[in-house]
Amino acid sequence: MLYRTMPKNGDRLSILGFGCMRLPATPEGAIDEPRAIAQIRAAIDAGVNYVDTAWPYHAGASEPLLGKSLRDGYRERVKLATKLPSWLVTSRADMDRFLDAQLSRLETDHIDYYLVHALDGPLWDAVAAHGVADFLDAAKADGRIVNAGFSFHGLLPDFRRIVDAYPWIFCQIQYNYLDQQFQAGTEGLRYAAAKGLGVVVMEPLRGGMLARSAPAIAALWDEAGARREPVDWALRWVWNHPEVTLLLSGMNEEAHIAQNVAVAGQALPGALTDAETALVDRVAATYKELLRVGCTGCGYCMPCPMGVQIPKCFDAYNALHLSGDDESAKFRYVVSVGGVIGVDAPGFASRCVACGECLEKCPQHIEIPEVLKSVVAELEDEGVPARMEAASKMFKVRPQ
Ligand SMILES: NC(=O)c1ccc[n+]([C@@H]2O[C@H](COP(=O)([O-])OP(=O)(O)OC[C@H]3O[C@@H](n4cnc5c(N)ncnc54)[C@H](OP(=O)(O)O)[C@@H]3O)[C@@H](O)[C@H]2O)c1
Repeated sequence: MLYRTMPKNGDRLSILGFGCMRLPATPEGAIDEPRAIAQIRAAIDAGVNYVDTAWPYHAGASEPLLGKSLRDGYRERVKLATKLPSWLVTSRADMDRFLDAQLSRLETDHIDYYLVHALDGPLWDAVAAHGVADFLDAAKADGRIVNAGFSFHGLLPDFRRIVDAYPWIFCQIQYNYLDQQFQAGTEGLRYAAAKGLGVVVMEPLRGGMLARSAPAIAALWDEAGARREPVDWALRWVWNHPEVTLLLSGMNEEAHIAQNVAVAGQALPGALTDAETALVDRVAATYKELLRVGCTGCGYCMPCPMGVQIPKCFDAYNALHLSGDDESAKFRYVVSVGGVIGVDAPGFASRCVACGECLEKCPQHIEIPEVLKSVVAELEDEGVPARMEAASKMFKVRPQ
């Protein structure tokens, strides 16, 4: 296992962190506890020393499971990360309630890396108004948290604004070779690193999509001199960036853990050759040709007068066509545009009235109202209410 240094505090962290959002499940959908615990411990035994969870993962069951996994001396061997569910916070006191409940769920008296979860610009403004800076200062002072950070799923200008708004130790961004200009992207990665923040990368395989090559993509990988699995290429591409402190993989198969640990023993920053990074860029370009809509998520089209979350609708629509997994893309759609997370009201594509206000603002000249009709046709089926209910159960649970 290779390790990199968190810039502001000198922690030596394994470049592969264990993400506890996709733990192995039983046929009934609960976490397969013995297997998950064995996997987390095996990863730690293999050198992983950063584990990441959050309040809503597995409908609230991930944090307690991780607490159990870290018994028997494992807690002392890792840096533990979890997150304040910012979209559930309605007051300053709420923040303490969540943190105290999380300490209890995780069977610990401190969180090493505590993140304000899933921020975008409006959500940051809301938690800032509720006093999140004061909360983080107080929780650091009394020892309940050690390092403060935030995770991000919004637009680049808001990312810069949040980086500059608090003395963060680290941030967590979605980053992979397809998302170089999406959300924080490469510019955000460099901005955060230049300000001295450690950067934790989530979704390095775009939630698993980059592990499943379409035939056109497989043909490109065959051109490489080195024989590597698509996963191997995707992880190495992230680690090739010296600004990345570590990446999180949501692992749930023993073979995946072994594979990712093996790559994490080799992936030095700057290790890919120019020819290899050029090949990855060609793979990314080919993926983009397969995308249904060329939205870069810049957000210039926003706000929509009808409240449609246009970039999020298009992201889910592209994911539907790339992933080969319809149900998970449809679930992702209701989570991201259904008002489940965030301060925004539901922004489903079906709210579009084709007023056309967005058309002149889109730098990609996308026929937005037309494409939104396709989003409705393919993502808004009769299963939406059931998915909304499942998403609410997962993301809206409060402390007892
Ligand atoms: N803060 C936030 O807002 C936020 C958002 C998203 C994620 N996260 C965190 O970041 C972590 C990582 O994100 P992610 O889980 O989306 O990461 P990811 O690495 O992009 O996707 C994980 C998925 O990739 C597949 N995979 C992993 N290793 C593989 C291998 N060797 N071979 C084949 N497939 C492999 C698995 O898919 P299958 O299960 O389909 O096999 C796995 O579930 C999460 O677990 C969570 O802790 C945070």
